[in-house]
Amino acid sequence: MMKILIIGMGYVGTTTGVVFAKQGHEVTGLDIDESKITSLRKGKLYFHEPGLQEMLLDQLKNGRLQFTSDPKSAIENHDLLFITVGTPSLDNGKADLTFVKSAAEMIARYKNKEKIIIVKSTVPIGTTDKVEQWIQQPANDSSSIHTAMNPEFLREGSALYDALHPNRIVIGSESTAAIEQLKELYQPFSCPLLVTNTKAAEMIKYASNAFLATKISFINEVAKLCDEVNVQITDVAKGIGMDHRIGPDFLQAGLGYGGSCFPKDVKEFTETAQSLGVPLTILEDVEKVNQSLPKYFINRVKEVYPSLKGKKVTVFGLSFKPHTDDIRESVAYPIMDQLLEEEASVIAHDPVVNLSTDWLKRGVTQCWDPYVAVKNSDLILITTNWPHYKDLNWARVRELVNHPYLFDGRNMLDADRMKGLTFLYRGIGYS
Ligand code: UDX
Repeated sequence: MMKILIIGMGYVGTTTGVVFAKQGHEVTGLDIDESKITSLRKGKLYFHEPGLQEMLLDQLKNGRLQFTSDPKSAIENHDLLFITVGTPSLDNGKADLTFVKSAAEMIARYKNKEKIIIVKSTVPIGTTDKVEQWIQQPANDSSSIHTAMNPEFLREGSALYDALHPNRIVIGSESTAAIEQLKELYQPFSCPLLVTNTKAAEMIKYASNAFLATKISFINEVAKLCDEVNVQITDVAKGIGMDHRIGPDFLQAGLGYGGSCFPKDVKEFTETAQSLGVPLTILEDVEKVNQSLPKYFINRVKEVYPSLKGKKVTVFGLSFKPHTDDIRESVAYPIMDQLLEEEASVIAHDPVVNLSTDWLKRGVTQCWDPYVAVKNSDLILITTNWPHYKDLNWARVRELVNHPYLFDGRNMLDADRMKGLTFLYRGIGYS
């Protein structure tokens, strides 16, 4: 059993903490945001993550998990600390290290003895070394610290599953003490464990996400070509994915990637490379392709509706992907922006996301019942591949709409079936 402190109770920190507690460790979650701590202490998650709520309650009940907003006693009483704070994008594309720096400064202030500090947040190459320097200020500070970089590969919506069943564990460190401690911590997980230096571990995280984003933009660009030559991108993806060197995953064409990781990590990796004089030109295009998709989709709509003025448009899906209420970089929003600009009347549906008052004020109507949302609709746009939309009674939907125009930005429905129901059905590289 280890005593572990996790600093930063976002979805990564909370999931990691709950899973370490489940493994039998004594875990404390620290956050400077009192409201998060109050909520977590009551066993209430403030974000949507399947299965996590129940496990959080279990671990609180058995006493292995606790939460605090008091950094002094938390840092003084722990020797193994994880930093899991956010690293959002700055306007220039670089990662904002404000929260990482303040976590490091907090550790510096209250560190009373030898500590092992693990950076789990996604941080630019060289940041873990900086964390060490920030903590060891002033430079004559003699109490020793050991640092390591241990990237997380959790997907939102399946973060709990991913944390319980990792497919690899990467430990980047120059400290034997930190490496040994992490090896012991991860010993119960039966997956390969790779030990590298700190910078390689930092880069592995960016390169992984950048490669996955590249797969998505690649298939989306090929999908545009499919639209021209009347080929189904789903067939192409299946055919190339059968080559085990390519693999079938992350070849689902559609409106592209969003969320809190891919867009910001691609930008940061590109910026870092650029500033070092080794531009990652391929990634610059990956981002361009991704950004082109909302407009491309609306232009496809315009082939049937040259003007959207006064048209009733139902938008299905607000979250950036299914099984989460996260709307960061969700493609639904630039699409709604464009619809409003075109003076369409927009009705939005999502199984879990609440539309903000800003959007309500701008005239978008939120509707929780998908059948009410499509009533008298001139156009349905699918922006998130929630399984709910697959399970809809589309024959009933067909009867409710005013015009049977169905544009599936996630290529998630059966095109032939939809055509059989007399929908005019279009996806991206798929119709
Ligand atoms: C991602 C990584 O998968 C995870 O390892 C990392 O730690 C954080 O970033 P996440 O952002 O939660 O996780 O979402 P993911 O499921 O990977 O999907 C990212 C985006 O790509 C979503 O917008 C999704 O809709 C899109 N996507 C994914 C596609 O458009 N096509 C695909 O084939 C796969």
